[in-house]
Amino acid sequence: MARIFVTRAIPERGIKLLAENFGEDSVAVSPHDRPITRDELLAGVAGADALLPILTDIVDGAVMDAAGRQLKVIGNYAVGYNNVDVGAATERGILVTNTPGVLTETTADLAWSLLMAAARRIGESERYLRGGAWKSWGPQMFLGVDVHGATLGIYGMGRIGRAMARRARGFGMRVLYYDAEPLAASSEVEIGATYVDKPALLAEADFISVHVPLLPETRHVFGEAEFKAMKPSAVFVNTSRGPVVDEAALARALKTGEIFAAGLDVYEEEPAVHPELLDCENAVLVPHIGSATRETRAKMAEMAAQNIVAALKGETPPNLVNPEALQKRP
Ligand code: DGY
Repeated sequence: MARIFVTRAIPERGIKLLAENFGEDSVAVSPHDRPITRDELLAGVAGADALLPILTDIVDGAVMDAAGRQLKVIGNYAVGYNNVDVGAATERGILVTNTPGVLTETTADLAWSLLMAAARRIGESERYLRGGAWKSWGPQMFLGVDVHGATLGIYGMGRIGRAMARRARGFGMRVLYYDAEPLAASSEVEIGATYVDKPALLAEADFISVHVPLLPETRHVFGEAEFKAMKPSAVFVNTSRGPVVDEAALARALKTGEIFAAGLDVYEEEPAVHPELLDCENAVLVPHIGSATRETRAKMAEMAAQNIVAALKGETPPNLVNPEALQKRP
């Protein structure tokens, strides 16, 4: 009998799929309505053939060894997999999978919401109204910046970056992008985006939205120098991973007016948020909810489960991130 350890309750669709394939007794779900502790993870994974972690679980070599040699697959419940030591998994012949595609549009919707909310000062003005401060309409009240007709700068033109470019079209925006690997000219034409280098993106964009994975080379790619290089009217949006941005530098830029506003879904030390950012009225801050719609989270659960089912049946999972591990399997 296979044993599958799920580190936190995920939507029923995924659990059901695992139970249908391997039997209800095969699936153990952490009973806690909170992230699992390190000790609980080490104990829970022992003897598992498959691990289904969430993005807050650090899955390193020690966790894999605590599982035992029968561990075949880590089916991460996220598109990002920076929480999993993929190299350590590959060395051990353990397959690692993620959930790409299903959350692209939902995450782009949230990035777009943050862009709009930051531009039009939605958080700040809502707090003002709810606090009872609104006494009259004023010609100079809560003046924001226009989204329509402005220039959007997309940093990282993967699936979510492209979904942002599509949204920008409806707002009559000019779209610039930077990516380590520029798109083919035909894709640029189809998407309506122009490649520029990073300095040009920083200097020309009215809105900058970040869509890169967290890698050693993307850590703090937005810091003091980058915020200084942006327009004072610029709005900065991050829905990728927190450590891509130096939060202290961003808070300084927001406070000193180096940039106009920011919308953030992700943070360097989640769930902690830099105290200086919490002070910034011009920052719209939400708690890592990029993919948080009912349908998308259910699809992610289904996809993570499908990956595990395939791996445990000896097939190649559809969303394998380390195909090299296939050669190392016993
Ligand atoms: C992911 O899947 O990586 C997202 O950050 C979840 O919202």
